[in-house]
Amino acid sequence: MSRTKVIAFANNKGGSGKTTSCSNIGCALSMMGKKVLIIDGDMQLNLTLSFFDEERALEYASNGKNIYTAIKEEKDLSDFVVPTEYENLDIVPSTSLMSGIEFDLFPKWQREFVLRKCLSSIVARGYYDYILIDSPPTLGGWVMNVLCVSDFVIIPVEASPWGLFGLANMFDFIGKVKEISPRLEIMGIMVTKADERKTYFKETLKTLRESEDVRVFDGYVKVDSAIEWSQDNSKPVVAYKKYSRSALEYKKLAKEILDYANR
Ligand SMILES: Nc1ncnc2c1ncn2[C@@H]1O[C@H](COP(=O)(O)OP(=O)(O)OP(=O)(O)O)[C@@H](O)[C@H]1O
Ligand SMILES: [Mg+2]
Repeated sequence: MSRTKVIAFANNKGGSGKTTSCSNIGCALSMMGKKVLIIDGDMQLNLTLSFFDEERALEYASNGKNIYTAIKEEKDLSDFVVPTEYENLDIVPSTSLMSGIEFDLFPKWQREFVLRKCLSSIVARGYYDYILIDSPPTLGGWVMNVLCVSDFVIIPVEASPWGLFGLANMFDFIGKVKEISPRLEIMGIMVTKADERKTYFKETLKTLRESEDVRVFDGYVKVDSAIEWSQDNSKPVVAYKKYSRSALEYKKLAKEILDYANR
């Protein structure tokens, strides 16, 4: 049986830290010696831009080396993997054409499982220890595909009033996915962009932690301008500024993920 574990980063709330978490956890795991593939599943291509400049990202959009082409043509994803500058870390880039993916999926046979089919040979080979998938802030057929191929889902959440609004929809959606893909497990809520000076943040974190319905990661990521600088330089913060606060926080979270996935 394959050892590869597939982890989705999903939350229908926009700007909750999905892409930042996916890029940094992916890079941190690769630095810990794990073989990692990250997949950019969003039309905004922010995950792709976390590793390449705009010119390179547009090259992958025009030469077909992207998730959209693979899904539309139902091709083996192995042919769409490109290396990053980091050892042990590969990526499947995205393109803005992903904005139309719902229309392309609709007429397909078993449309919830197209990504699972495209990924099956990579998973069966067992070369990667982890496959991390970044998803857009939506709950539709494409995110259904992402969750249907995943063993775990991590839900990045900003501990703000609107950050929590809509979480119930997310849980309902995950419930629906589990009806057709029962192996999906919520690994936990990952709190991002935390501002410890705010009482509201502390209260919200306490409420989340006291909830019996969902697990919350022990670690969380505080607001850190190093994240924005790292993204401006097309690098994850764990590589750009190794000892910054957020880099250390993401490394700690990566260890938590390893422990959980191998428990
Ligand atoms: N810890 C942090 N400190 C400061 N800024 C952050 C932090 N985490 C994320 N950000 C910023 O917040 C914004 C949203 O983060 P990100 O793009 O990771 O969210 P997302 O959930 O992927 O968004 P979308 O739903 O649009 O895909 C980005 O501009 C990012 O630079
Ligand atoms: Mg994103």
